Amino acid sequence: MNAPSVSAAQQALLQKIAALPKRPETNLDHIPGDYGWPLVGNSFSILKDARSHNTRMIEKYGSIYRSSAFTRRQVMFADADAAQYLLMDQAQNFSSERGWMMAREFLGGGILLRDFADHRKHRRPLQQAFKSKVMNAYCDRLNGLISQGLANWPRREQFLFQPAVKSLLLDNAASVFLGSELGSESDKLNQAFVDMLGGIAVILQLRIPGTAFNRAVQGTQYLRNWLARSVEARKQSDSQDIFTSLCHLAEDPANELSVDDIVSHTLLIWFAAHDTTTSSLCSMMTMLGEHPEWQEEVRRELLALDDGGIGFDQTADLDITDRVFRETLRQIPPVLMIPRRAIDAFEYRGFQIPANSAVAVLVDHIHHSEQYWSNPGEFDPDRWLPQRAEHKKHPFQWIPFGGGAHKCLGFKFADMQVKVFLYHLLRNYRIETLREPGAGTRYVPIPLPNDQLPVRLLPL
Ligand code: HEM
Repeated sequence: MNAPSVSAAQQALLQKIAALPKRPETNLDHIPGDYGWPLVGNSFSILKDARSHNTRMIEKYGSIYRSSAFTRRQVMFADADAAQYLLMDQAQNFSSERGWMMAREFLGGGILLRDFADHRKHRRPLQQAFKSKVMNAYCDRLNGLISQGLANWPRREQFLFQPAVKSLLLDNAASVFLGSELGSESDKLNQAFVDMLGGIAVILQLRIPGTAFNRAVQGTQYLRNWLARSVEARKQSDSQDIFTSLCHLAEDPANELSVDDIVSHTLLIWFAAHDTTTSSLCSMMTMLGEHPEWQEEVRRELLALDDGGIGFDQTADLDITDRVFRETLRQIPPVLMIPRRAIDAFEYRGFQIPANSAVAVLVDHIHHSEQYWSNPGEFDPDRWLPQRAEHKKHPFQWIPFGGGAHKCLGFKFADMQVKVFLYHLLRNYRIETLREPGAGTRYVPIPLPNDQLPVRLLPL
């Protein structure tokens, strides 16, 4: 944070953020909304059905409202104008580092937990790790890993899609993010990572032996030590993975990346990719199971490609598959809301919002608002056709990857990985989803099928 490349004014701003109280402001009483039950707030209603809860609140109080859940009070911003205002943040008043405070124990120092000039300084070199040339290499690797992984999935028998795809993605990530030469180390690293994920959603972050939070702290320490120990060797390596490319970027003194920075950014990228892609693929399979006509359309498009794998350029050039993926992310955005903390008091649409208030963009509601979408509850990939172009009403009506300075750094990677997966799955199998009626989705902390999505693969 004290690097000389950050101006004095920006240093002062960053110090102001550091001095904000840990807990956000609680006096939001003058803003419409309600805090729900004493102590638990609206937590149970959100856990039961977050989407219906949010809709009820917005119908009653409007699209800027106060709420309380999971031990914190915050102001929700639930339309596209309000999302643009918060995420573009022209006045540099909304801290992402404070917004994502619940992850600080594990991911502190990672790019998402940095603000303004300090964030820009780190984001510039990180973008190099997602340039087309390296994406081609990642894509080649993913083709091999995914086709081998799918070869081990059961055929003609029922199995649970969610744990199967989660394990496939963990193996993909170990190889593409950390390197293909991990050997037996891979299982230990994956377990430590799963332990770390288990701690982020824990509300009472107390270090009591045997708890998920304690395991998460230990897992994170193991990962941090392993990464820090490996940095020097990776600087000598030509391995094509994200961790190694960050180690090489650190060799240029202009990038000002310390060993600790490399470790924090690698962990953050790994975290940002994993649950979001698992959620997207579960939602995609749910949609393709419920809409077999679209499954056929996607298959037809993918079968028209050559055998032997799909290239990065080709993944960006698919029409039907792309519309189906966009529509899936509209229906079930993996990141339901994007949190920030106000540094100074501000006024928006006549509401006076105090300094240090927790504020959040309600992505899921914007994706389902009749203000921008016709029949928003309907799965309709044709709404993205140029002649309908429903997505062009507002630049912030479709924001699964966020927007502004912190817009997802891996969105092309996610798009590519999902399409490589579909290429290998749908060209070989028809997928049937075998869900009980009304099985549904649980939305918090990240959308996943309630029943882990029982499926059957039928070879073509
Ligand atoms: C469908 C999958 C994904 C979704 C829906 C998604 C969504 C998001 C969202 C909403 C943000 C912005 C958060 C904020 O503004 O507070 C974000 C940031 C980020 N994402 Fe993704 N993401 C996905 C996949 C990935 C993948 C695969 C990677 C890496 C390979 C990745 C890396 C990142 C990073 C590094 C950031 C932080 C950027 C910054 O702070 O400058 N994401 N993502």
